Amino acid sequence: MLKIEQANIVLYRGLATLHRQEIETSFLSKLGDPFLELLYRSMIESDGTICLAALDQGELAGFVCGCENTAHFYKEFLRRHFFSAFIRAVPAVFRRGTVKGVYESLRYAGSLSAHPAELVSIVVRDDWRGSGLAAGLLKELAIEFERRGVTDFKVVAGSNLATANAFYRKMGLSAIGTIEVHAGVVSHVYEAHVPDLIKPGQNPTIKKSDMRESK
Ligand SMILES: CC(C)(COP(=O)(O)OP(=O)(O)OC[C@H]1O[C@@H](n2cnc3c(N)ncnc32)[C@H](O)[C@@H]1OP(=O)(O)O)[C@@H](O)C(=O)NCCC(=O)NCCS
Repeated sequence: MLKIEQANIVLYRGLATLHRQEIETSFLSKLGDPFLELLYRSMIESDGTICLAALDQGELAGFVCGCENTAHFYKEFLRRHFFSAFIRAVPAVFRRGTVKGVYESLRYAGSLSAHPAELVSIVVRDDWRGSGLAAGLLKELAIEFERRGVTDFKVVAGSNLATANAFYRKMGLSAIGTIEVHAGVVSHVYEAHVPDLIKPGQNPTIKKSDMRESK
């Protein structure tokens, strides 16, 4: 039996691991598990963020995290955890270009889209792909955004993430342009209007047996 619920703090390691395994090309993954664990712990704990976990018999099958204001979240994250974040990311930080990459990642947030809210990450475990789970998570995120008075949010997806880009387009998000967060790495920027994602009749059925082969 699959349940989607607010992520409990004990899940922070699971969220970090799934992120690193399934979005291994992302810049954050390159900062390593200890950094990702600190980030997800903060996202679960912060008031301005939403982390929803899909649990299959208590096991993490997928999750979605969003921020009401990403720039504020990262600012607060650095204010509270600068030294722990730095120490955790030390091996990556000393790799060429990473310091610049961290700066670029934090700075991009306000560009292109005027909406401060953002879907930061959505990941579905391989054996649940094609089941409608991500669609379900997206809808639950939209419901929670609406409850908090957020009407629109953005999503940034690396152009190399073909499945993710297909997913956002299928869900009706509008592609508003591309940005280069890091030189030479192009990302698509999407915007979503919350009421469009939660209108009646938009009830994805989540059925593991319907899975498509993951790509
Ligand atoms: C993107 C992702 C979250 C989609 O999860 P999912 O549970 O398999 O998606 P759903 O089953 O809800 O699919 C909803 C729609 O998205 C589209 N879609 C999903 N996977 C697709 C694929 N492999 N190829 C083409 N379209 C796809 C389909 O149109 C699908 O609708 P349909 O089933 O009616 O055809 C999942 O593939 C994933 O975790 N990818 C790795 C992590 C990642 O890249 N996250 C995004 C970071 S920005």
